[in-house]
Amino acid sequence: MKLSLEERSMLAGEQGKATQKAMQILAALGTIYGAARMIPVASVQIAGVSYDNLGEAGLDWLSEMADGGGKSRVLATLNPAGMDIENWQALGIPADFAAQQIRVIEAFARMGVTTTCTCTPYLSGNLPHFGEHLAWAESSAVCFANSVIGARTNREGGPSALAAALTGRTPAYGLHLDENRRPGVTVEVQGRGDRGVRGTWFFGALGKAIGIKLEALETKPVPYIRGIEAASLEELKAFCASIATYGGAALFHIPGITPEAAQYAPPAETILVTQADLDAALASMNDASPEEVDFVSLGCPHLSIAEIARIAELLAGKTIAKEFWITTSRPVKHIADRMGYTAIIEASGAKFAVDTCCVVAPIRGRFHALATDSGKACYYAYAKNKLKTRLLPFDDVVREAVSSEQ
Ligand code: F3S
Repeated sequence: MKLSLEERSMLAGEQGKATQKAMQILAALGTIYGAARMIPVASVQIAGVSYDNLGEAGLDWLSEMADGGGKSRVLATLNPAGMDIENWQALGIPADFAAQQIRVIEAFARMGVTTTCTCTPYLSGNLPHFGEHLAWAESSAVCFANSVIGARTNREGGPSALAAALTGRTPAYGLHLDENRRPGVTVEVQGRGDRGVRGTWFFGALGKAIGIKLEALETKPVPYIRGIEAASLEELKAFCASIATYGGAALFHIPGITPEAAQYAPPAETILVTQADLDAALASMNDASPEEVDFVSLGCPHLSIAEIARIAELLAGKTIAKEFWITTSRPVKHIADRMGYTAIIEASGAKFAVDTCCVVAPIRGRFHALATDSGKACYYAYAKNKLKTRLLPFDDVVREAVSSEQ
């Protein structure tokens, strides 16, 4: 692998211990994947922030990198943490967990990482443009950056994303290269969705239906998806989260919607996604009855301000009857505060869970069944916390939380 003078200086330890360790990680990765060189990255998004996932060993490693003088050279932001950094008590987070989570955030801050904890960095100040090279880690954000924006990133692990931040580099392999961005299979979407209702939940189910079929293909091709005429930003973020979760997809093309699709003709190999596939995907994420639901959450991926405005509209003058978490980033919450949405939502009894989400927070054993509009949240609700789920249209999720007498 060819390294520049600057990169060799980092590797030789001339720019501090942490930078040396970071360059060692990237050089090893580049060697494994056959990268010819390093490329500069425009921004970084680091996952593995929740102390629930990181544990003591992860925190020790971060502290070591911060003590070793590591400093981010590019804009770097964080994935959701295990709690609302400012308001963790209201969410029932244990104090000992909070203390460790704060140490994690402090270690990142010492390294100059912007401590905005969100999986939708593109809504909160970390918005790349077409063709930029990135080192992002969160699977839904990686899929969004590659597909919807046309930026270029592999799905980084926590250590390799931090290493990219501390060096401003990533090895040139995978989705950074033109040849790996070509579609390998056409997906014909024939199903129209249940009850004619589209929206985030439909795109969550569609992501699962397509994802399952992609997973079954040995070559893991980039899909070229036909049959979707329009999709909002919110629907696309829901779809990215779901297709990444169920199909491991980090890039897709949709003609008329995503920016690189026009460069390609539909591949000859075709798979169909029928109404029966969509119905099966929906059914598989609906194993709880309304009575069983004791936890409601919107914001996987983190909510946009338009979604929060809609929640405020639906909750105005109402009282909720179930624990209801609204998860978003700190900058988006600030807009909600200013617009008066926060006051309306909190008056209903619903809680903002900022900087975190229902998957990375330590909630094991607290609830029985989750209602959500997110296909990804359904997957992890069961896989991580053994919760039953109800996947519903966005507005119905809010109604599910509201007391039935209203
Ligand atoms: Fe984001 Fe948490 Fe969902 S990190 S994509 S809200 S699982």
